[in-house]
Amino acid sequence: MNTIEIEDRLGITFCKRQEVAVERGEGSYVWDEDGKKYLDFTAGWGVTCLGHSHPVITQAICQQAKKIIQNPNSGFTYSPSRARLLTVLSKLLPSGLTKLYFANSGAEANDAAIKLARKITRKSKIVSTLGSFHGRTFNTLSVSGGRDNTEKYLPSLTENRFVPFGDKEKICSMVDSETAAVILEPIQGEGGVRIPDSDYIAFVAKLCKKNGVLLIIDEIQTGFCRTGKFFAIEHSPEDIEPDILTMGKGIAGGFPFAAFAVSERVDRQINKGDHGGTYCGNPLGCAVATSVITYLDQQDIAGRVARIGRGLLEQLKLIALKYPQLIVSTRGQGLLCAVELKSDEIVAELTQACMEKGLLVTPTRNRVVRLIPSLLVNEDELKAGMYLLDLALTSVVQNQGVK
Ligand SMILES: Cc1ncc(COP(=O)(O)O)c(C=O)c1O
Repeated sequence: MNTIEIEDRLGITFCKRQEVAVERGEGSYVWDEDGKKYLDFTAGWGVTCLGHSHPVITQAICQQAKKIIQNPNSGFTYSPSRARLLTVLSKLLPSGLTKLYFANSGAEANDAAIKLARKITRKSKIVSTLGSFHGRTFNTLSVSGGRDNTEKYLPSLTENRFVPFGDKEKICSMVDSETAAVILEPIQGEGGVRIPDSDYIAFVAKLCKKNGVLLIIDEIQTGFCRTGKFFAIEHSPEDIEPDILTMGKGIAGGFPFAAFAVSERVDRQINKGDHGGTYCGNPLGCAVATSVITYLDQQDIAGRVARIGRGLLEQLKLIALKYPQLIVSTRGQGLLCAVELKSDEIVAELTQACMEKGLLVTPTRNRVVRLIPSLLVNEDELKAGMYLLDLALTSVVQNQGVK
């Protein structure tokens, strides 16, 4: 049996859809078991921000693994590795966020944020947005506004409410004195790279403040330079001061790790034992995150991403002009880019065609193919990606017989 047959027979196939067994990766490329090379414009769901097997990451893993991986009575004992991460990350947090906690996945960080918001406010209503995605634990699915995931697990937590993303009027009518928190992505990633008006997040922040409601900003996909700023809320013309900000994905460049930061007001109301977990803030994850974040900061990767992202978007716009029968629009911020297509069928066909040509892309909701390359992708790799995307679009046109 080959890898695909073994996985299909013995693993639970929740969502394996692409018949490629990836053996290894380096930089922007991965290789399958047979040695076929693919350009990876998925960055493992936006995670491998420094590309695959970057020495910053592999060295951090090796060095820390030789020292200690898991603290005795983790959580009870102190850790120099965790202290180093706290020092580095706290300097980069948006204003008003003063304390950090570490988790193992984005969903877990959001879950904790919601749990703490309920404890602090003693209220249970969470306002979220349609099309949002905050994770796959039951609690986070309950505040995720994409039906394909949430409707299978009904009844969800009944007090949560959804409003259209970017709609100021609707969110005003939903946030009230019964609301514990609003949870919001600065840009909806899984929802199809939806970018709100530049003043939207500031508007929601003021609304929350006025009503004594906590604002949870989910930067799990958008944080760590992905959009051309260290955190995406920094694009806002006004300073945003969330009560809780959640982080994951790029934080440790591929090592499973996540975090949330809280304001002083929130921190004052968190007590020992309110949250925890066996692996939370483990020395190995902390060491990797420290190395990744230091690299992102010292090399000004946010500036690089902003510049390269503009170039990528221009190239995508040219491609869109060539295929008006398939492409509705292109958009993006930094290296979080989207090609919106005319139907879900075209998304599936294009994703498959890209894979056959040697380009890995991420299909997502609202008829979008997402392009989220490594933040260190170079000009040649971007050109190669656009060439392969162009070839894939041509083959979709040929298969459909559309002109
Ligand atoms: C905005 C956002 N929040 C939360 C999550 C969940 O993170 P994880 O898959 O690490 O649990 C994701 C994952 O795609 C995400 O994009």
